[in-house]
Amino acid sequence: MKNILITGISGKVGSVITAKLKEKYNISGVDLKKSNLVSTTIADCTNLDKILPAFKGIDVVIDLASDPNQYSDWNVIHDTNLLCTSTALEASRISGVKRFIFASSNHATGMYEFDSPYKEIVEGEYSKINKDNLPLINTEMPIRPDGPYGIGKAFGEASGRYYSDKYDISVICLRIGTLNSESAPTNIRQFATLLTHNDLGRLITACVEAPKEIRFGIYYGVSNNKWKFWDTSNSSKDLNYQPEDDAELFR
Ligand SMILES: NC(=O)c1ccc[n+]([C@@H]2O[C@H](COP(=O)([O-])OP(=O)(O)OC[C@H]3O[C@@H](n4cnc5c(N)ncnc54)[C@H](O)[C@@H]3O)[C@@H](O)[C@H]2O)c1
Repeated sequence: MKNILITGISGKVGSVITAKLKEKYNISGVDLKKSNLVSTTIADCTNLDKILPAFKGIDVVIDLASDPNQYSDWNVIHDTNLLCTSTALEASRISGVKRFIFASSNHATGMYEFDSPYKEIVEGEYSKINKDNLPLINTEMPIRPDGPYGIGKAFGEASGRYYSDKYDISVICLRIGTLNSESAPTNIRQFATLLTHNDLGRLITACVEAPKEIRFGIYYGVSNNKWKFWDTSNSSKDLNYQPEDDAELFR
């Protein structure tokens, strides 16, 4: 059984992943607050000395600890998100972790949503779109963060690339769409961006099980939504992951 450590385990994404994966893997966590599901080291992820013991003997780290608010200002992003990610990478390097799965965000490329045809989709103006000719946004395209939060996620991806190249850690960055407490969308944009709980479970399992030849990759984490505008073909090819759910089921 692989040993998996989840930073930020007690939040929304961490709780869903833990519930979905805990029968298959040996899961532990580190967070400022306790997980109801598995053993948790209570520590601040910006403090290397405090979190290091939790990384001992870990095969795979899933790095979620951060402020998930897309509107947070620079000070919060710097003091929490940048430091949580860089400290978790450093703890992984010191501890010989083989794979690091980073919770990036669609906000690393959020500015595309201000251009057609994406702006019409996020506003639900579907009659203005030719769906058969929809150009999908893929991870080869330039990053276009839509604020400090998205810039922080791009920093995390770049840091992951460095640790992969320099220290040979396999790093997988997931630009997660929208993961709610319940699977259903809560606004019109989320009919495009939703990632259901079941698809998140499948995606993380695919990342944990992906061949060790995957040294670095960036993938969009989104369900198979009718109106999705992110390209998921590289996760199918590299990770053998296919999203199965469609937000339209909740319409
Ligand atoms: N939920 C989404 O739709 C979504 C989308 C894209 C990316 N993400 C990313 O996924 C990750 C998890 O998001 P979430 O929605 O579960 O958020 P959340 O706020 O529910 O969970 C974050 C967890 O991190 C912990 N945490 C925060 N700062 C910490 C610190 N300094 N030390 C230790 N623990 C700390 C919090 O206590 C919390 O339990 C975040 O990195 C977020 O940016 C989430």
